[in-house]
Amino acid sequence: MTPSNPHDFHRPTYHFLPAANWMNDPNGVIQWRGRYHLFFQYNPDGAYHANMHWGHAVSDDLAHWEEMPIAIAPTPNSPDQAGIWSGCMVDDDGIPTAIYTGVNDDYSRQVQCLAFGNEDLSRWTKHSGNPVLSEIPAHCFQARDFRDPFVWRADDQWYMTLSGHINGVGGAALLYRSEDLRDWQYLHPLFVGDRVRHGYNFECVNFFPLGQRWVMIISSMFDGGGAAVLALVGRYENHRFFPESETVYDAGYGYAPLTIVDDQGRRLIWAWLREGRSVDQQMAAGWSGVQAIPRALSLDSRQRLVSHPVPEIKTLRGAHHHFSASDVHEGALPISGLALDIEAEFDASLAETCGIELARSPDGGEQVAITYDAGTEALRVTRQYGGEAGEIEGEAQGLAHRLDAGETLQLRILLDGSVIEAVANGRARVTSRFYPSEATSQGLRVISPEAVVSLDVWEMASIG
Ligand code: FRU
Repeated sequence: MTPSNPHDFHRPTYHFLPAANWMNDPNGVIQWRGRYHLFFQYNPDGAYHANMHWGHAVSDDLAHWEEMPIAIAPTPNSPDQAGIWSGCMVDDDGIPTAIYTGVNDDYSRQVQCLAFGNEDLSRWTKHSGNPVLSEIPAHCFQARDFRDPFVWRADDQWYMTLSGHINGVGGAALLYRSEDLRDWQYLHPLFVGDRVRHGYNFECVNFFPLGQRWVMIISSMFDGGGAAVLALVGRYENHRFFPESETVYDAGYGYAPLTIVDDQGRRLIWAWLREGRSVDQQMAAGWSGVQAIPRALSLDSRQRLVSHPVPEIKTLRGAHHHFSASDVHEGALPISGLALDIEAEFDASLAETCGIELARSPDGGEQVAITYDAGTEALRVTRQYGGEAGEIEGEAQGLAHRLDAGETLQLRILLDGSVIEAVANGRARVTSRFYPSEATSQGLRVISPEAVVSLDVWEMASIG
């Protein structure tokens, strides 16, 4: 284990990440006896993907997290001998029960397993009857890609969807039912995607009621190597899902989200924020992977999926800088920082492109621009930085975002070391990673100051 470097300014300070090593998907999140427990894919051996365990962190307020000892580890010569892969957690009549995928050495066999937690979820005992599900339905064919159990309770029974694909067709979410979490009956595919639109394989499918609809969130793998998180909103009838609309949930580095309902009845979503640097750079840094700030989900009156960072993270806000339209006419702002929470409102009809540049070097050679282009109705993140490798990332990330009649552009931006989470009007999301070469690249500049309605910037406290 390489200890993390305290002068590593790419390392986020108010997002959760373990002290060192590799982390990917959020797993088994639950609010248990009041406390939020986050488990996550974790490799204790280094900052690379292998030998998955479930790491563990707890929080009383969704803002501060304390890393705990590893919760669940692979057992030699067992169905999970090569890894505890992603899954969820349920309260089975008072028994905290983790449902996860166990894998063999070459990952060709993926089976579903249970583990039971003690009172504070620090010690886990594996079910003696593991695996509880190993047969892949015949029409899905391949042994791989049968994983990521997501379980919910309805009609006094347990339902589970597993992620994978149907050979030659596309990604699929399979539906199962059980009385006791141990014997699972396969019903049929809950939803089968279109290979081009939804990808050739699904991972980490979440399926849940929200407002008057059901929502399916899919981490999709596409032919050619791309991946994206899709959100489908629709109806659930006769145990099948009929999407009515679909959007890209995150057009960036967020992947494998997991949702839960907390004690306040909120549907909360976590996500892994992938790295944008090479494996060698990740190993040299000694850490890889960050958890997104949890967001609360809802549907608006037009059944569009809306997400906002949970209000609890406002407790991390420190020094506040408020700017009115007349304060920003020069563009450059008299503040700097790499741990900021920003709320910006623009009248997008007043400029071709409006937005804000962050992490600017004094000469502007390095910066990340978050922009909205009213003509093309696109939200974009454009990165320019010279990394250790001497590269400049010029490629824009972006997605379509249409403002309603008379609506202003409302940007919420969480900037933290190498992380950017940008949400526009609650409904368009882009997550990005960037790695400036200089610690002095911390400036801010407004693009099209004439379009600014108001701008608020808070310096964020570290949770470390
Ligand atoms: C998604 C994923 C899951 C799997 C886990 C393994 O990122 O590939 O499908 O369970 O990561 O770490």
